[in-house]
Amino acid sequence: MPDEMSWPLIRSRGEGGASTHLEASASETGALVIGILGTGDFSRSLARRLVASGYQVVVGSRNPHRSVALFPEEAEVTSQMEAASQADLVFVAVFPEHHSTLLELKPSLAGKTLVDVSNGLRINKEGPSNAEQLADLFPESFIVKGFNTISAWTLQVGPRDGSKQVYLCSDNQKAKSLVMQVCRRMGFIPVDMGQLSSSVEIENLTLHLFPSWHIPILCTVSLFFFFYLYNFTRDILLPYITAKKSAFYKMPIKTVNVTLPSVALVMLALVYVPGLCAAFLQLWRGTKYKRFPSWLDGWLTRRKQFGLCSFLCAVLHAVYSLCLPMRKSARFTLLNKAFKQVKDGVQDSWVDEDVWRMELYLSVGIMALGLLSLLAVTSLPSVANSVNWREFSFIQSTLGYCALSMATLHTVFFGWDRAFDPAQYHFYLPPTFLLVLILPLLVLLGRLALFVPCVAQRLRQIRRGWEESRHIRFTLPDDDRRNGLEDVSNV
Ligand SMILES: Cc1cc2nc3c(=O)[nH]c(=O)nc-3n(C[C@H](O)[C@H](O)[C@H](O)COP(=O)(O)OP(=O)(O)OC[C@H]3O[C@@H](n4cnc5c(N)ncnc54)[C@H](O)[C@@H]3O)c2cc1C
Ligand SMILES: NC(=O)c1ccc[n+]([C@@H]2O[C@H](COP(=O)([O-])OP(=O)(O)OC[C@H]3O[C@@H](n4cnc5c(N)ncnc54)[C@H](OP(=O)(O)O)[C@@H]3O)[C@@H](O)[C@H]2O)c1
Ligand code: HEM
Repeated sequence: MPDEMSWPLIRSRGEGGASTHLEASASETGALVIGILGTGDFSRSLARRLVASGYQVVVGSRNPHRSVALFPEEAEVTSQMEAASQADLVFVAVFPEHHSTLLELKPSLAGKTLVDVSNGLRINKEGPSNAEQLADLFPESFIVKGFNTISAWTLQVGPRDGSKQVYLCSDNQKAKSLVMQVCRRMGFIPVDMGQLSSSVEIENLTLHLFPSWHIPILCTVSLFFFFYLYNFTRDILLPYITAKKSAFYKMPIKTVNVTLPSVALVMLALVYVPGLCAAFLQLWRGTKYKRFPSWLDGWLTRRKQFGLCSFLCAVLHAVYSLCLPMRKSARFTLLNKAFKQVKDGVQDSWVDEDVWRMELYLSVGIMALGLLSLLAVTSLPSVANSVNWREFSFIQSTLGYCALSMATLHTVFFGWDRAFDPAQYHFYLPPTFLLVLILPLLVLLGRLALFVPCVAQRLRQIRRGWEESRHIRFTLPDDDRRNGLEDVSNV
């Protein structure tokens, strides 16, 4: 415990060498003089937050008179040299291209902590990072990378309205701890990312554009184009070419509403394919300790994105479906049908089978959408964090399979016996509902195969660490509460 009585009551700014700047303890950080080089957007927001957190702030500018009015009056705006020599800890809030113009401050910054807040323009795969380059320019200072993932806006409004985590890294542990204390006092949560070599990763964090969404979105868009073109060719283009029947009015709603549910169902099946591949691969290899091929690894980690894309298409399909009877074309078709029936002397147009078919497929469709909504809600991090692993696995895996079964049943009821009607195969092209049923039915059959008791038992053993090649014998305790669909590896 440091001897507090030996500290001077009023610290003179010139006092202390390299180590004194870093040895500020948690109680002392309030007395720190914090410097900011640069008077741009980031500097102004940072100065405001630091002043609000009780720090003494000194801002260094090439032209202090021009910028002084933009800063809170508690902050001193002065020359770069003056700020660098007064401050104990300095935030470098200038673009990295201009770091070299600060070289004349080198003697004043020696032994002090410099926080590099800069971001790059494009993803840096090879390094060196901006922070590492700054460290080369100022070898006598202690460089800490951080705050670059926090926007000027978040700094201004405070952590309650924006991201709370601040990623920090440095080769100097004391310098990093000091910045962490400042960070906490400003209301942010510091996340230690290790050595300064991690700065490349921290700088790249702000430049990624939904990296795990590329493949799921590409899949969704490709499937959408495929099914749209298929339906357009089958229901609109070929009837027009062969019989001059114009049905182009179907393009905005009817064709889209056949395409969207097709994409939703195929994408939903694609969510559960990798889990099955993983299970069959583990059974075949007789161990869970061999790495999956990288394509399967990537697919397993993107199931959430596949699922959410499927959910989006399903929601749009439900909205489009509710709008189907509102269309003028639907009203004209209905009127024409009624008129024809009156002309033909048909008194009662009620067809029991059609009524049952529609009641059933709508009911299961609604249930499927309800279950998918539950899965989507649980995928929100705040909700996912409030349930334990078993509950999450039950919702995502067991209820997810129920959603897939319901959606498949919805399509089967919609198709009814029309799959066996030759009139449905216009131009030798099978109806869409038949095409989209292939994958979900295969997935459900695959899952049923995993239910076979000897297969389920073997898989459970493998996931608890049993290996065929080592012949280690053990029996699992009976657990009849588990239904076999849930992931037991993490329980
Ligand atoms: C609307 C919606 C939202 C979704 N949200 C989420 C979500 O937030 N989070 C999420 O994870 N999924 C989400 N999904 C996808 C899906 O529901 C889950 O991934 C579900 O757990 C898959 O169940 P499963 O039975 O196929 O596989 P699981 O039982 O999860 O996995 C099968 C087995 O594969 C192995 N395995 C799994 N992943 C790996 C891996 N990376 N490396 C090595 N082995 C592995 C394990 O041994 C596991 O037992 C969502 C789906 C939808 C439709
Ligand atoms: N804006 C954000 O939301 C945000 C978020 C995260 C990180 N950052 C990072 O913060 C740094 C500053 O960003 P900013 O948005 O505040 O930029 P900005 O508004 O352009 O401010 C940059 C400041 O740098 C100073 N500067 C010092 N030497 C300079 C030189 N040679 N040429 C030009 N300017 C010089 C200037 O102040 P004087 O003229 O007073 O010297 C200028 O106001 C950048 O590295 C950026 O990547 C910004
Ligand atoms: C509230 C929920 C839902 C409603 C009201 C609904 C309604 C409908 C309607 C009215 C049709 C017939 C469309 C037509 O006449 O062309 C249909 C077909 C279909 N639905 Fe749904 N649905 C719902 C949910 C779902 C879900 C969640 C999925 C899949 C994830 C799905 C997949 C399908 C498929 C594949 C078809 C057949 C498309 C075709 O080939 O014509 N539906 N649905």
